[in-house]
Amino acid sequence: MSQLSVDHLLGIKYLKAEDIELIFETADHFKEVINRPIKKVPSLRDITIANLFFENSTRTKLSFELAEKRLSADVINFSASQSSVKKGETLVDTVNNILSMKVDMVVMRHPNPGAGVFLSRHIDASIINAGDGAHEHPTQALLDSYSIRERLGEVGGKKVVIVGDILHSRVALSNIFALKLLGAQVKVCGPKTLLPKYINSLGVEVETDLRKALEWCDVANMLRVQNERMDISYFPSTREYTQQFGVNKTLLDALDKEIVIMHPGPINRGVEITSDVADSKQAIILNQVENGVAIRMAVIYLLASKIKK
Ligand code: NCD
Repeated sequence: MSQLSVDHLLGIKYLKAEDIELIFETADHFKEVINRPIKKVPSLRDITIANLFFENSTRTKLSFELAEKRLSADVINFSASQSSVKKGETLVDTVNNILSMKVDMVVMRHPNPGAGVFLSRHIDASIINAGDGAHEHPTQALLDSYSIRERLGEVGGKKVVIVGDILHSRVALSNIFALKLLGAQVKVCGPKTLLPKYINSLGVEVETDLRKALEWCDVANMLRVQNERMDISYFPSTREYTQQFGVNKTLLDALDKEIVIMHPGPINRGVEITSDVADSKQAIILNQVENGVAIRMAVIYLLASKIKK
């Protein structure tokens, strides 16, 4: 396969395993590029990309922007707090205004689930979903699986537990889709109140005892508690959450093997993960960030090659 089967990256659920393999192979090449003294290739000199962030972001926004610049694309940035959205403009109008300035690709983060899919039906540009509410965050799942492949050789057959706030997490949903597609075994672990009712229909198992989950897995992906998405309390206190679902060194040292620890960031040090674990050799958190740029370069490059000029 030399081309993606899709024209947009709206979610992992629209991809085939071969798409992910192609993205990984392309990312291998770009990872080598970004480790050269000159970290840039001229591939996308004729492409203009708009980064539309209707929700706060630090690392995802920076990572996309770096990926675009390293491919030599022209980049414009927009964040909702300073925009006409606040003046009552619709999403389609906002984006069409931007596109009339001859933009080829849109990277969008939006608080509403499905915002990317909606936009793809109304505008004529390639769209990358950089996180839509509690729905999907496909590039995060791609970089997560890519980082597992880098550390453990392959994703297929590996046992991965996703720990924490599964209910509000787009990272969890996209990860589940990607890991299953690549043949990993997936469990989720967290307070029952933060596990969606439909979780078993996704082909994953539930384990509410963190110690058992850690004993079972090769990789633990620790999620942040998404306080900004909770208008009610889902557990009695942060301290109790940490006692039951936080990973610390004592817990890891008691296992008879060394597991890989992941976190999509931003970390709440001392809540879902202690500092000594976050900064330990078994954590690949900064490798995930580094791989994010290579993965996003690969996705942008592959989608751009499908744009008809
Ligand atoms: C995640 C997000 O925004 O969905 N962060 C990220 O993109 N690196 C996860 C989170 O906010 O906890």
